[in-house]
Order: sequence, then C-alpha cells, then structure tokens
Amino acid sequence: MAKIGIFYGSSTGHTEKIAELIAKAFGDDATTINVSDASPDDLNKFPNLIFGTSTWDIGGMQDDWEDFIEMLKKADLKKKKIALFGLGDQENFPDSFADGMGVLYDQIAGKTTIVGAWPTDGYEFEESDALKDGKFVGLVIDEDNQSKLTGERVKMWVEMLRTEFV
Ligand SMILES: Cc1cc2nc3c(=O)[nH]c(=O)nc-3n(C[C@H](O)[C@H](O)[C@H](O)COP(=O)(O)O)c2cc1C
Repeated sequence: MAKIGIFYGSSTGHTEKIAELIAKAFGDDATTINVSDASPDDLNKFPNLIFGTSTWDIGGMQDDWEDFIEMLKKADLKKKKIALFGLGDQENFPDSFADGMGVLYDQIAGKTTIVGAWPTDGYEFEESDALKDGKFVGLVIDEDNQSKLTGERVKMWVEMLRTEFV
C-alpha cells in the first residue's frame, strides 16, 4: 500500500493517542504528524491521508486545525484519498457530537476523494455535523465514555481503509 500520513490536532492527548493506534494498525506504511508542526509540503509526501480532530468550543475543530486549515485550502488534494476521524463526548455534548470532524469534512468535500464513512450504531447522541447521508463521514471515537470500544473500532476501520486506500 502507498504511504499514509496521519495528521492530527489534539488538546488533551486523546486524538494523538488514536492517531498512534491507527498508525500501529497500519504498520510501517503510516506516519503520524501533529498539525501544529506540519507544513503544506508534508501533505505532498503521502498519496493517502488521514485527518483527525477532536471537537471543542461546542461544535468547532481542535484549535491547531483552525490554523492548518488555511494551508489546506491552498493544497492540491485532487489525487489524494483522504479518511477522517473525530473525537467527541456524546454524553456531555449530544447536540454537537463530533462536530469538529464535520467542519473539517466541509472544508475538503468536493476537492478530493473522501473514504472511510462509519455507521452510527453504538453511539447515543441527538445531533452531529459529522453525519451525512445517515453515516458519519469518518471514524468517531469517544474516549470520555466508550474507551473500551476504541480498540475494536480502530481495528475494523483500518481493515476497511485497506480496501479503500491506494
Ligand atoms: C470545553 C470543551 C468543549 C467540548 N465540546 C465538545 C463538543 O461540542 N462536541 C463533542 O463531541 N465533544 C466536545 N468536547 C469533548 C472533546 O472533544 C473530547 O474530550 C476529546 O476526546 C478531546 O480530544 P483531544 O484531547 O485530542 O483534544 C469538549 C470538551 C471540552 C472540555
């Protein structure tokens, strides 16, 4: 499989931990990069990209993504395959669950090929901007309430991506 760059933004370490779990599941093909240290050139190194953000400020992307998104807007993503993952807290924020991933999706939709949509089974929430056509636009992880499910969710998602990435 072609190389995979996992770009993530994380405020308390949850998203970073998941980025590392995903990288481990892919093995040698994957590299993790914190968006707070990333340059647009880093995007060019990988045909396959994974973007991960948590949700903050009731429905927003993680802060470091707010800055990196400006660089992303100028990048040519046409030939890339991109998968998203998002962290959220469904108990405390059921009306904006994992919205950050939805905000990120809206910035790149139509400019690239997005893969890795994920079913909503097993989550309890009212509303999410990460929901499009009845599925999440990427993997959703809730470390605050469902950390026991994380390992299995990551494993299944990575298996799915192996068939969707180039
Ligand atoms: C002030 C604050 C606001 C948050 N807002 C949301 C939210 O709107 N929706 C959501 O699903 N989670 C929300 N969260 C939960 C975080 O997204 C969640 O704890 C996540 O795992 C943090 O990941 P990180 O440490 O990688 O940044 C919020 C947490 C805090 C403390």
